[in-house]
Amino acid sequence: MRYLKNRKVIVVLTICMAIAGAQTFAQKDRGHEDHKPENLKVLPKNTTGEEIHTIMRGYSKALGVRCNFCHAASEGDKPKIDFASDAKPEKDIARKMIAMVDAINNKYLDKIEDGKLEKITCVTCHMGRTTPIVSIDSLAKGKD
Ligand code: HEC
Ligand code: HEC
Repeated sequence: MRYLKNRKVIVVLTICMAIAGAQTFAQKDRGHEDHKPENLKVLPKNTTGEEIHTIMRGYSKALGVRCNFCHAASEGDKPKIDFASDAKPEKDIARKMIAMVDAINNKYLDKIEDGKLEKITCVTCHMGRTTPIVSIDSLAKGKD
């Protein structure tokens, strides 16, 4: 009987711990989703915070940079990145690049071979660098 009782306590404790753990996880997750983008001008306005982060990690990797290449720091003693700010020109260039990639894919590539061709991304040109190779000369030298 005593053994059974202890077992019950352990089972109850385990369940409580599992619930507490799940709640912490859910809270973290919710925090992420709560961060709604507020200044989208090119990407769909209903893109979630989580989707934005995945897309942004892609841009950073494609250009071989960190977030602050396009995103300005906030004012004040303890500057943090202000993701909604449009202060850095690189962010605006990136917006035009996003529109360009969309046009290449949906206006041009889509019309070839019934749209079966592979879509392009930032990587297609940038290949991990900020300035893509644009001339035969620099291709021969292997740098930009
Ligand atoms: C190559 C440039 C570039 C890089 C690098 C980049 N971003 Fe962005 N980011 C943008 C652009 C452009 C937008 C706005 C898109 C639009 O207007 O639809 C944006 C928007 C955002 C937003 C939404 C802000 C708001 O409230 O509207 C967040 C959050 C964000 N980026 C996070 C990040 C994070 C985190 C990283 C690093 C992992 C990162 N970005 C790297 C270009 C970049
Ligand atoms: C068709 C090729 C091509 C594609 C695809 C492309 N870019 Fe670019 N990008 C360029 C060229 C060319 C430049 C100018 C490089 C230079 O100044 O020498 C450039 C420059 C940039 C710059 C400015 C870099 C700097 O040093 O100031 C940013 C930011 C940028 N691209 C972001 C992006 C993002 C984000 C994507 C994907 C959404 C993308 N690009 C896709 C060709 C491309």
